[in-house]
Amino acid sequence: MKRAVIPPEETARQRAYEQKILALRQGGLAHVVTYGCQQNEADSQQLRGMLAAMGFGFTDDPAQADLVLLNTCAIRDNAEQKVYGALGRLTHIKERRPDLLVCLCGCMAQQERVAEKVRRSYRLVDLVFGPQALWRFPELLYEVLTKKGRVFSIENERGAIAEGAPVVRDSAVKAWVSIMYGCNNFCSYCIVPYVRGRERSRSPEDILAEVEGLVRDGYKEITLLGQNVNSYGKDLETPLDFAGLLAQIDQIDGDFWLRFMTNHPKDTGDRLFAVMAKSRHIAPQLHLPVQSGSDRVLRAMNRGYTRASYLEKVRALREKIPQVVLTSDIIIGFPGETEAEAMETISLVEEVGYDALFTFIYSPRPGTPAAEMPDPVSREEKQVWFQRLLDAQNRFSAQRHAAYVGRKVPILVDGLSGDEAWPLSARTPGGRLVHLQGPAEAVGRFAQADIVDSNTWALFGHL
Ligand code: 5AD
Ligand code: SF4
Repeated sequence: MKRAVIPPEETARQRAYEQKILALRQGGLAHVVTYGCQQNEADSQQLRGMLAAMGFGFTDDPAQADLVLLNTCAIRDNAEQKVYGALGRLTHIKERRPDLLVCLCGCMAQQERVAEKVRRSYRLVDLVFGPQALWRFPELLYEVLTKKGRVFSIENERGAIAEGAPVVRDSAVKAWVSIMYGCNNFCSYCIVPYVRGRERSRSPEDILAEVEGLVRDGYKEITLLGQNVNSYGKDLETPLDFAGLLAQIDQIDGDFWLRFMTNHPKDTGDRLFAVMAKSRHIAPQLHLPVQSGSDRVLRAMNRGYTRASYLEKVRALREKIPQVVLTSDIIIGFPGETEAEAMETISLVEEVGYDALFTFIYSPRPGTPAAEMPDPVSREEKQVWFQRLLDAQNRFSAQRHAAYVGRKVPILVDGLSGDEAWPLSARTPGGRLVHLQGPAEAVGRFAQADIVDSNTWALFGHL
């Protein structure tokens, strides 16, 4: 596959548009809302960076804002409904203040169906652009400001990588680093490959330089992001796979934990586990979405592995890293899934014993193959299976967490919680959340915590 890197002249042109907007507007306040996954969080940090370069400050209150930017998610219908709700509320603000700029971006905005609906029914929206056009936000906004008309930019572009955009990060402790964009897997239920385009990897030099910079700036937890980090590098001219990239990042000196997500079971294996096992910085944690425990459903989902091959990988991983914290994504109610097949998923969950799960009821996404499949089971029945899955997992997560009580564990204090009783939030090496008592100065430090209590979702402790 050909690498698609945006030429530096093009990205320089975007920086010039930022300056033109700065000159045109003299400041203002932006309200940025992010829906969905960590990749979207990372994208929003870039969008904030561009807004800051254009002279915008930031506000949490849409009523105070001169510009509202909704960075949307399309993974399930309820994510889309939230955005329409937010647009409805913004309509009232815009009636009072017609100058308010309303921008819609992200995965939902990349879909023609959504753009059409916004064109017709949400006249308040001034600018619509998908993730593939994110790097051109300054130019698109400039067009809105000078043309005095609505701008829609949702063509499927070749899918490219733009370096050098400014970033405003929202934590001084934790940072996201995208290592690749897009997805080539086309799991039959998933909209992502349609909205985020084909896989493309950032160059190892750019990634290493960014991580080195973050470590130098004192960041303590760095999370590498991609829809499927395990296919990193397939499009690079000099061959380097994800395990190789991790090994290089691990050479960077300094005090930091390295995490990554998300993984695809068909592309993970011994090479990755070996690098993890002997690394200095990589956290003992793996998010390995299984989606289903039934071989027939896995085939219909186009996942490319079986229950047995998945379980074998989990076994190999635990053999190398016994203390690994393992999490997963599960979909209940895929079209045509029977009760017996849903129970196979629950039996897999029990067999593996995950530390935590992200569980979803299947939501048809127009344009994906699964949305065309017969789906005879009612929502109510799927809800019953879903509840059984939750009950099984919650019991197990609570047990897992209870086993920490009375122990001293290493943690990274990553922020203030806003809760008086447990004012700090922290993470264990495996990524479990710890509500913590201790002084605010501890934020950003590695420490030891005495774990005194736990529940299904978190641990409680003091420094
Ligand atoms: N319906 C429900 N869940 C979905 N996911 C992806 N697409 C859908 C869908 N159409 C889930 C998968 C994926 C996670 C990010 O979202 O479990 O791993
Ligand atoms: Fe969607 Fe599958 Fe790609 Fe994940 S790997 S983004 S579930 S198509």
